[in-house]
Amino acid sequence: MSVSSPARLAILISGRGSNMQAFMDACNNGDLDASIVLVLSNKTDAPGLCRAAEAGITTACIDHRQYDSREAFDAALVAQLSQYEPDLVILAGFMRILTPVFIEPFAGKLLNIHPSLLPKYPGLHTHQRAISAGDPEAGVTVHFVTLELDGGPPILQARVPVLAGDTAESLAERVIVLEHRIYPVAARWLLQGRLHLSEKGAILDGEPIPPTGIDYVPGIR
Ligand code: GAR
Repeated sequence: MSVSSPARLAILISGRGSNMQAFMDACNNGDLDASIVLVLSNKTDAPGLCRAAEAGITTACIDHRQYDSREAFDAALVAQLSQYEPDLVILAGFMRILTPVFIEPFAGKLLNIHPSLLPKYPGLHTHQRAISAGDPEAGVTVHFVTLELDGGPPILQARVPVLAGDTAESLAERVIVLEHRIYPVAARWLLQGRLHLSEKGAILDGEPIPPTGIDYVPGIR
């Protein structure tokens, strides 16, 4: 994949945008040779949109409720994003199920972060499900987006122990710290040409990544 320098990132959000902020920080402090060319939301009132605009980043909103079908909404997203020629499209708390209309044009340069140790708990309420199941640990996965919901090849995973008395909220507070660390690392690997999506899964430095992703350790480069 050939990439501009600085690379062009588009970020899709639906909410507060703390992972988006992690990318803003990584671009500003030189951790990523990239700039954010567009932050796009499906929700007009997503707090992350204000945060991005205040930082001088171009923002746009496409309200999914204005479209008759997921495919029509996805086509509008593709039309908007394509104008900005992104090298990488980052889903950062973008809470819409995407169809092939969106996924196929960006295959191989479309990443998502999901707050569970995939393949456990695709979908919603991941932390509560981990607690209810009595899991000793929970965590987060960065993965390539493919047609299967939360089912694309994992790249990086970070784990935290589930503590006695944890609630979904207390667990989420510990996991989100790790989300902000691992997501820019995976993006950097991709932009450096070290990471790509193949028919067999995710490949890093020529080697297949294990099915649950690489275990994050502090300082990983
Ligand atoms: C994050 O915890 C992210 O992992 C999750 O939404 C949150 C967004 O927070 N994503 C999903 O659940 C996707 N299925 P943020 O807006 O502060 O980045």
